[in-house]
Amino acid sequence: MKNNPVTGSISPGKRSRLAEGYAQADAERSVTVSLPSRGQLLLPLMRCLEANGGSASPAEVYDQVAAEYGATTEVRSAEAIFVGSGPRNLFERQVRHAQQFGKIKGLIEARRRGHWSLTDKAFGVLENARPGVVLAVFETSRGLALWGHVEEAASLIEPGSVDTIFTSPPYPVLSQKEYGGPKDAATWLSWMFDLVDLWRPLLAPGGSMFINLGAEVYRRGQPFQSLYLERFAVGMEDRCGMQLAQRWWWHNPAKLGSIHWVSIRRRRLKQTIEPIYWWVNVKDGIQDAANNQMVLQPYKDKKRPYKTGIRPSGIDIGVGAFDKDNGGAIPSTLIIKANSSSNDPYRRACRAAGIKIHPATFPESLPERAILMTTQPGDLVLDPFFGSGSTGVVAERLGRRWIGIDRARGYLRGAALRFTDAVMTDFPPDAMSR
Ligand SMILES: C[S@@+](CC[C@H](N)C(=O)[O-])C[C@H]1O[C@@H](n2cnc3c(N)ncnc32)[C@H](O)[C@@H]1O
Repeated sequence: MKNNPVTGSISPGKRSRLAEGYAQADAERSVTVSLPSRGQLLLPLMRCLEANGGSASPAEVYDQVAAEYGATTEVRSAEAIFVGSGPRNLFERQVRHAQQFGKIKGLIEARRRGHWSLTDKAFGVLENARPGVVLAVFETSRGLALWGHVEEAASLIEPGSVDTIFTSPPYPVLSQKEYGGPKDAATWLSWMFDLVDLWRPLLAPGGSMFINLGAEVYRRGQPFQSLYLERFAVGMEDRCGMQLAQRWWWHNPAKLGSIHWVSIRRRRLKQTIEPIYWWVNVKDGIQDAANNQMVLQPYKDKKRPYKTGIRPSGIDIGVGAFDKDNGGAIPSTLIIKANSSSNDPYRRACRAAGIKIHPATFPESLPERAILMTTQPGDLVLDPFFGSGSTGVVAERLGRRWIGIDRARGYLRGAALRFTDAVMTDFPPDAMSR
């Protein structure tokens, strides 16, 4: 213990309390790891309480907060010996401080003994739907945007009414994104399979389900990839009974790849391609009625799209072959589209309205190809992870009906700005400009 200025003029009781305080401060100083502050832990703690349905005991959330914050094992297990007690875990102590900080700010309350609960104000701050509550946020002439958890909102949709699902869930990446989703691949897989079990009955027989996923998911601390995509594909067929129609690929030349393994450590290449799995609800022998004539592209060289002669594969392309005009070229499974725009109409509208821009939108060309190929005007398209509403925007433009679900109200407010005829159903009219 360091020298302290406790003088003889202080009562013995106070002196001993002061000495204890100095001892605690010394114990903490002797810990070399840098602990997160209570302010840094408040949001991760709130997110974990939210993931537990809004309330949990401290013991239930310590590990979850550590994972959400991204604490190293060293930080999670840091201990100090305090006067009058044995070793105490310092990370857990900081989480308790964060809880007290949240209480002072009116974000956390102790509604149940031994449990920390989020207040209404906290749900407002998180802008995420309360468990068990699904609200319509806005509607257009063809579509409806629901604010709620995908697990709950799906039950509001009529079974067999959806013709195509096009969606991009949060990927199981180690650095948690603000828009949620389980981080570890095993939890993510069982979450997704449960969701697919909910979505499949909503699909019409022969209906399609397109799922865009990230191809680059590293194992913690290693330059090796998770095999979650392979496991997902196998489980979709074996567990969920879906049939794989095709894998499409989105090449986003503007994608950066892993900062750590690519840019800093230089151990891997830039991953710029993401798969879009196209599954079909083959039921009672009914197959999908997809039609690639709906997505034909202008011929590059109308006269001779392929050179004549024997190709390396042995196929002989004779004179006159492929000369027939079939109305356009059949596109490949590769969609090339850079996702680097920072000044498109959606982003400009969000900035003007002071609404947060969604950090992970996909380009409209992705749902466009899928919707054109697998649906007819008037059909219903569902995006259960709606985000900024890209799928709805395309569906609306192509004359399809749509339903979008997202748990984050802020994103739905931004999505509403992309539709000229959106009617807000849960906000006063001036809410759009707030
Ligand atoms: C990758 S983003 C989708 C972005 C969208 N494709 C677009 O173009 O804007 C995933 C979305 O899922 C939402 N989300 C995550 N977990 C959810 C849940 N349990 N229920 C409903 N929405 C959820 C997030 O708020 C986020 O907007």
